[in-house]
Amino acid sequence: MALTSESIDSHQRTGQPWNDMLPEALESMSSPREEVRGMGSILSKVSQVFILTDENVAPFWLPEVEYGLKCEKAVEIVIKPGEQHKNLQTVQRIWKILMKHHADRNSLLVNLGGGVITDLGGFAASTYKRGIKFINVPTTLLAMVDAAIGGKTGIDFGGAKNQIGTFAEAEDVLVDPVFLSTLPRREILSGLAEMLKYGFVADADLLKSNLKDYQQYISRAGEIKREIVAKDPMENGLRKILNFGHTLGHAIESHCLTIDYPLLHGEAVALGMAGALWLSVKRCGLDEKVLKDFEKKLLVLLSETEIAFADADVESVMGYLAHDKKNQGDKPQFVLLEAIGNPVWNVEVEPDLVKASLLYIIKVSRR
Ligand SMILES: NC(=O)c1ccc[n+]([C@@H]2O[C@H](COP(=O)([O-])OP(=O)(O)OC[C@H]3O[C@@H](n4cnc5c(N)ncnc54)[C@H](O)[C@@H]3O)[C@@H](O)[C@H]2O)c1
Ligand SMILES: [Zn+2]
Repeated sequence: MALTSESIDSHQRTGQPWNDMLPEALESMSSPREEVRGMGSILSKVSQVFILTDENVAPFWLPEVEYGLKCEKAVEIVIKPGEQHKNLQTVQRIWKILMKHHADRNSLLVNLGGGVITDLGGFAASTYKRGIKFINVPTTLLAMVDAAIGGKTGIDFGGAKNQIGTFAEAEDVLVDPVFLSTLPRREILSGLAEMLKYGFVADADLLKSNLKDYQQYISRAGEIKREIVAKDPMENGLRKILNFGHTLGHAIESHCLTIDYPLLHGEAVALGMAGALWLSVKRCGLDEKVLKDFEKKLLVLLSETEIAFADADVESVMGYLAHDKKNQGDKPQFVLLEAIGNPVWNVEVEPDLVKASLLYIIKVSRR
């Protein structure tokens, strides 16, 4: 089944969700044990292994990964799950455990989890004794295609996301889709939204991909991120295209936290991409068909959540936009598309048009 608006339509009509094929696709995949065994060469060179994970991931995957690593002596660091723990207190806890076990500069931290774990663990490792090695083993789709790749680490601070961080590359990133077999459907859809981002900015085929080729789909998204990061590691220019959908997305995400209706990151990005496509039609001559096709995908991406975002919220979202850290001064900067695979960045959009794009998002997400 091709990932097209028609196929999504037919799934909606039959009540069959878009990702029903996932378990079938996952069953045919290898066990993470085989995948992680490939890490032997790195492990033989380190003095001690620490594994950082969270309480949701640990029961499913920690024993598997330890077994695969042949690492009975690894020190386990299991933290509480969720973005609210991606903070300095948790980093201090990790540093203390590393110190208690006399981790030296030749120690290795394995980050086993979603983007919260890879961001936190990467930050803790890259700062402990001026930096120890770390490996990312992403267990969410979002982390496999985005968070675990590209060398950005970080924590939230002072009420704002990712305010403190480092650029530090993992020694290796082990992507194995088998981990997704235990991931809630809502989280899968959130990751799929982030994956579609790569289709819009770099590869139209990703927007049409066959979900049965799931593994291939993930690796292509990762490949695109790696290529872009290699060309612009410090985000001086080109890397900004990876923020497609994120200007409006982050502002909506922040606003929804305050009305106590949190959206997952990918859900907010899905809304942000709808707005960015709408602006691209108005400002950059993007073919309207691209927008119409995405409107159908959007409903599937948001099918596990309720959108409590209404016209009355537009001013609040505009306030968050003014504080976006991608801004130059107080003007929000957008990544827009002239065509699929043809993004433009640092685009300033007048406030009235931004407001209109938010009203469009509200309308289209409530159908
Ligand atoms: N550094 C980067 O370049 C970058 C890029 C994108 C996102 N991020 C960061 O990534 C984070 C979001 O990542 P995320 O969506 O992976 O969130 P997450 O790490 O919070 O994981 C989502 C939820 O799924 C659970 N989980 C993870 N793997 C599981 C599995 N296999 N089975 C069952 N449950 C599982 C987690 O415990 C958590 O409750 C954000 O903090 C974001 O800022 C970083
Ligand atoms: Zn994102």
